[in-house]
Amino acid sequence: MAHPERDPNKVCFLTFGCQMNRLDSELAAGRFEEQGIATTPDADRAGTIVINTCSVRKHAEDRALSNLGRFKAAKRRDPHLVLVLMGCMAQREGDRLLARYPYLDVVCGTRRFTDLPRLAERARSAGERIVATDDEHVTIDRKPGLRPEPFRSFVSIMRGCDSFCSYCIVPYVRGRQVSRHPDKVEREVRGLVDDGCVEVTLLGQNVAAYRHDETDLAGLLERLDRVPGLRRLRFITSHPADVSDRLLRAVERLPSVCEHLHMPAQSGADRILSAMNRGYTAEFYRERLGAARESIPGVEIASDFIVGFPGETDADFAATTELLRDGGFNQCFIFKYSPRPGTRAAEMADDVPDAVKKERNQALLDAQDEAARAQNRAKEGREFELLVEGPSKRDPDRLTGRTRGNDIAVFPRPEGPPPQPGEFVTVRITDSTPLTLIAEHVRSG
Ligand code: 5AD
Ligand code: SF4
Repeated sequence: MAHPERDPNKVCFLTFGCQMNRLDSELAAGRFEEQGIATTPDADRAGTIVINTCSVRKHAEDRALSNLGRFKAAKRRDPHLVLVLMGCMAQREGDRLLARYPYLDVVCGTRRFTDLPRLAERARSAGERIVATDDEHVTIDRKPGLRPEPFRSFVSIMRGCDSFCSYCIVPYVRGRQVSRHPDKVEREVRGLVDDGCVEVTLLGQNVAAYRHDETDLAGLLERLDRVPGLRRLRFITSHPADVSDRLLRAVERLPSVCEHLHMPAQSGADRILSAMNRGYTAEFYRERLGAARESIPGVEIASDFIVGFPGETDADFAATTELLRDGGFNQCFIFKYSPRPGTRAAEMADDVPDAVKKERNQALLDAQDEAARAQNRAKEGREFELLVEGPSKRDPDRLTGRTRGNDIAVFPRPEGPPPQPGEFVTVRITDSTPLTLIAEHVRSG
């Protein structure tokens, strides 16, 4: 079989994990572009392949490694191919990865990815095998033009995490919490908006804990809200214990800030929350939910839950299900507990059998399906502003977009010139599924 030539001036990114990883891939891709190396989705032609890995669950690591395995034969055929593993797993495993995978060239941790073009070039020209997982300060400033979507963008406002939830690998692979200077954040946002961006999502493991000198997240939102031309501002993710009344008031008061919170509950059982080191009770979480709904009319709240944490009983799980049912979440991300070496929870017995984890996972998904169905039904007949994302993948005659609350809506392409990605339309909801609002176009602009 003939194989296409690989182009040393092309790089292909395969990205796993959270939005933070997506942003890191974008930033690294920008650095390659500065060197004249363009990104391509075609792994068969790229001279460099970068797999950006996640460590949050074992499953995510297994997927990254099986992707790496896909390129073993390609590397044998073409020794000039540079294979890079970056991100959380690279940080966690370091040089063990080079030892285990002889065809891997570069292991690049969570703080060295802006250096990737240079590391990849060293691997290609000198045949070096490199591990870069040290704690060098990462510069995450970007050139606004180097981003995949012209109309919206992520902006990192902090890195690392100090919460030390007992199950979580993040503080170990992403390091201590550091908030970025608000002037730098504002400069980046202004640059993006000048370049045509209308929506910015501020990113951090726990953005609600953002603080730089006197500026907290509410203060930062207030500054960014004044940037002319920025229509939508979001921020994810928020630890419930850090969601202050001041923050809720800022979301309500500032016109560009979307009525949307991602505030993971993780569990509804106090015993489990305490073993998770979450620092709040189910009652506290419910109180914050109530405060958010009271302060911010129409707010949509998303949550994460972990099932099968060590010691989780049927009664604990019932409390979680109840919290999910009462929560009125528009989106829930549900995960089976996965022990991560080095975390405190990994020292506890992983005593919930996998079959039970699976069952609880499915039961929560079903409960969320039912709740979301009812909530979406209640939106039928109402009008929403959508930021258009483009044609629907399933049906090119329909367009998709997102509401300010971060619901996905689809609507038939209206007569005349179709609304373009990045434009705003008003739609009326006519029907719905648990995951999608079905709408009709009311007006553009
Ligand atoms: N096992 C399962 N889920 C986890 N999460 C984080 N660590 C683990 C783990 N060890 C989930 C949490 C978090 C989301 C990003 O991933 O719900 O909010
Ligand atoms: Fe993101 Fe955490 Fe996964 Fe790293 S381990 S990619 S920070 S979710």
